[in-house]
Amino acid sequence: MDSTPINENDQWSQKLPEWLAASKALCSEGTVASYIPELSKAPQSALGIHIMDQKGGGITAGDCGLSFTMQSISKVFTLLLALMDNGEKIVFDKVGMEPTGDNFNSMLKLELVQPGIPFNPLINAGAIVISSLIGGNGPEEKAERTLQFFRKLAHNDKLQVDLDVYRSEAESADLNRSMAYFLRDNGVLTGKVNDVLDVYFRHCSIQVRCEDLARMALVLAFDGRDPITGIRHIPRRYVQIAKTFMVTCGMYNASGEFAIDVGLPAKSGVAGGILTLVPGRYGIGVYGPALNPKGNSIAGVHLLETLSKELDWSLF
Ligand code: DON
Repeated sequence: MDSTPINENDQWSQKLPEWLAASKALCSEGTVASYIPELSKAPQSALGIHIMDQKGGGITAGDCGLSFTMQSISKVFTLLLALMDNGEKIVFDKVGMEPTGDNFNSMLKLELVQPGIPFNPLINAGAIVISSLIGGNGPEEKAERTLQFFRKLAHNDKLQVDLDVYRSEAESADLNRSMAYFLRDNGVLTGKVNDVLDVYFRHCSIQVRCEDLARMALVLAFDGRDPITGIRHIPRRYVQIAKTFMVTCGMYNASGEFAIDVGLPAKSGVAGGILTLVPGRYGIGVYGPALNPKGNSIAGVHLLETLSKELDWSLF
């Protein structure tokens, strides 16, 4: 695969604003998430993208300067941290490896399918169990280790938890709370439910911009090594696991459609972010808070479909 750094004069980088404008028109058909009340304040018509190459060069378009919380995108990186802390055996004894076809916050299969472990680490139930596996003494240390890990991958010491979003989620998380109690009763989750959820709410509320997502994605695009600094942050095997989950479950019950139409590993969040990557080439961060009915950025998905088709990015 060609790994030439992005050239601002390339024909496609000049086309990006045009493609973005066409996708932005879809924002009015989407809905900004409101089940976490603080998220409803996001600007419905925003759309931005940052594409970063292995030299740190990038092209951007649209509202890429806006901040937003990672939400479910954080689950990819807590999975990686839990794998680095515990190894595969311990992690996959407690969380499965299969897509569900259900909504991201469904607990249906926990009761229906034995042994009652979450199907995968990217649905809420799975990510809550993963939060319980992050190393550290108590929720403060676990949350701090997670934040430091994210800062390292984003190469940005300023990343912070958005406390307004964190509190808003903590006050409105009846479904996640009931899921966590159910998992504890099943013996899957150990420790205090409130402590585990505190770590989970905090990592979902880490605030980023498209550039941060692009840099984190770049590390995955280069199998765990930051190509700009040359530093290896994550063992290659764990990145392979994470990228496979991104393909099979990263866009929830729209993952099959996304694999067909875009064909790249990706992870979305309900605040409107999408992190994706072109292996060996680019890390990409997208922000568009208007969501489609499956909970993915409506304009962001459309923009990635356009880019993938125009630039022949699909892996399949
Ligand atoms: O637990 C929740 O519901 C949120 N903190 C994260 C959900 C989410 O981002 C789902 N993504 N599409």
